[in-house]
Amino acid sequence: MDKFVINGGKPLKGMVRISGAKNAAVAILPAVLLADEPCTIENLPNISDVTAIYRILSDLGAQVRVKNKSTVEIDPRHANSFVVSKQMAAGMRASSYFLGALLGRMRRARVAPPGGCDFGVRPIDQHIKGFEALGAKVVIENGMVEARAEALSGCSVYLDVVSVGATINIMLAAAKAPGLTVIENAAREPHIVDLANFLNSIGANIMGAGTGVIKIRGVEHLGGTTYSIIPDQIEAGTYMVAAAATKGDVLITNVTPKHLESIAAKLAETGAEITEYDESVRVSMNCRPHKCNVKTMPHPGFPTDMQPQIATLLSVADGTSIITEGVWDSRFRYTDQLTLMGADIQVDGKMAVITGVERLSPAPVRAVDLRAGAAMIIAGLMADGVTEVDNIVHIDRGYEDIVEKFTALGADIRRVPAEPAAELLKQA
Ligand code: EPZ
Repeated sequence: MDKFVINGGKPLKGMVRISGAKNAAVAILPAVLLADEPCTIENLPNISDVTAIYRILSDLGAQVRVKNKSTVEIDPRHANSFVVSKQMAAGMRASSYFLGALLGRMRRARVAPPGGCDFGVRPIDQHIKGFEALGAKVVIENGMVEARAEALSGCSVYLDVVSVGATINIMLAAAKAPGLTVIENAAREPHIVDLANFLNSIGANIMGAGTGVIKIRGVEHLGGTTYSIIPDQIEAGTYMVAAAATKGDVLITNVTPKHLESIAAKLAETGAEITEYDESVRVSMNCRPHKCNVKTMPHPGFPTDMQPQIATLLSVADGTSIITEGVWDSRFRYTDQLTLMGADIQVDGKMAVITGVERLSPAPVRAVDLRAGAAMIIAGLMADGVTEVDNIVHIDRGYEDIVEKFTALGADIRRVPAEPAAELLKQA
């Protein structure tokens, strides 16, 4: 498997353009199955999770025409299968969105249980609660989740936990279900709003996305459209933290500054200078980061998907910081890897106590999941010398052209096959 080899210790400087949002793309692409006409989706990130969704759509019988690396045309009219096999789901969390999309389209879906990053237990009970409230029967049999309904009809469903995935799946299943569906305690992430905007652009009637109560009045027919995905909040946040962590000065373009407020606020607490423009944000840092406490929460709180990156920055802060993980049960596995680089982190359940050290030192580390992988790259960029990041298949799932983007900012980072990486390390 390829590795990243990073010769760190250089401040990042320049401009980076953010790609379309992964978590919006992986919801909107399955949603095209609800359309009765072809749809063109633009500003897609060129990442392996998106390619995996194209494969599933083709396997289901949809016609997928990739026009260029960020645009695809999908004709769902001949999609006639309702089965997403384990092999097709390929360990991706977003494969679960085919449950809602296929249930909405064909009143039947059989999908391998979702995989994705390992943060402890990742239940789908709230998705199932929503499908059942809409009138479906859901069984888990032979390693597959099967949802079936004679007919679906609008309902009220209260989510016991604020779940992005359940909110999206219920929106998908309800978009064409006759009557009014109300999702209470809905997630409010930007990608939920993007999905609602996409569905409304093809004729759905969804109100309240971005608030805790979403109302969906089912319609009979959904047409076609050309739709452009929002910029990726977490990719932008990752480059913001990387800029601050390397004491750099970076203009991050093609972003929605409103989506970055919680990240900008925390970075400002650490001493970074943040300037917001209409569609870009500039981050610079010229001091040792100040300690600060962070608690992750559903949107608009500080995103859990930025937790490993900010922890990496705080590992060299001028004091002790406490990070509380408010979304996932087990999202600190990566801290062992940072410890290998000299960080001082004590984890107790959903809390990590980070005592700032002077500097990180290079070491061979692993990307234990997608955002943890991004954090390892940031750590490598901070440390003087050569850091090798292994298991980067996770990073490829969510970051487009990461080597090219960091290289354009002055970083020395290369993707190399496993064997030559060992050689380079010997020479360094
Ligand atoms: C989405 O995962 C994202 N993935 C994750 O991003 C992100 O970490 C997460 O939302 C939280 O923001 C995608 O959008 C593809 P949840 P999802 O359902 O939908 C509990 C990344 O790095 N829960 O909002 O799976 C669950 O255990 C990825 O891009 C239930 O109890 O997350 C968790 O504690 C990784 N029952 C909390 O809710 C359920 O039925 C939030 O999960 C569903 C969830």
